Amino acid sequence: MKVHTYERAFLWLGAIVLVACLVALLYGSLGLDIHLPSRAGAIDPQQVASTPPFDQPGVRQIGPNQYEAVMIGRIWSFTPAVIEVPAGAEVTFTLTTPDVIHGFHVEGTRVNMMLIPGQITRNRYRFERPGEYTIICHEYCGVGHHTMYGKVIVK
Ligand code: CUA
Repeated sequence: MKVHTYERAFLWLGAIVLVACLVALLYGSLGLDIHLPSRAGAIDPQQVASTPPFDQPGVRQIGPNQYEAVMIGRIWSFTPAVIEVPAGAEVTFTLTTPDVIHGFHVEGTRVNMMLIPGQITRNRYRFERPGEYTIICHEYCGVGHHTMYGKVIVK
């Protein structure tokens, strides 16, 4: 009967959509390495300036073509505001904040994090193409929010 045919078709459609979503999820997490920025540790927000690695913010090489960018977001700037890495570099961003909640988004990339007092946030990204990528704070953090930005220079 016709009804059964439609029912079977919808069952198949449901199953196919389910499998397609699962494949997309696996491809995104394993193939494209997309995942939520993780909580990488706790920190006393009043001791940020004297707690490693935040006592020495900046970019350092941690392996072949691998870099760690240790940065602090505070009202209303990033320290350091500008970082420079070679094209093809895989950069691990390690951030925290000593004051209020800030955002950290590198435009044109999937680097999008929240900086929460007391927490260390970490995210990894490979900069394939040379250029200048603007960093913005995307969480309203006070009257100077719109002046809070920085830059990733990829050479
Ligand atoms: Cu920091 Cu908005």
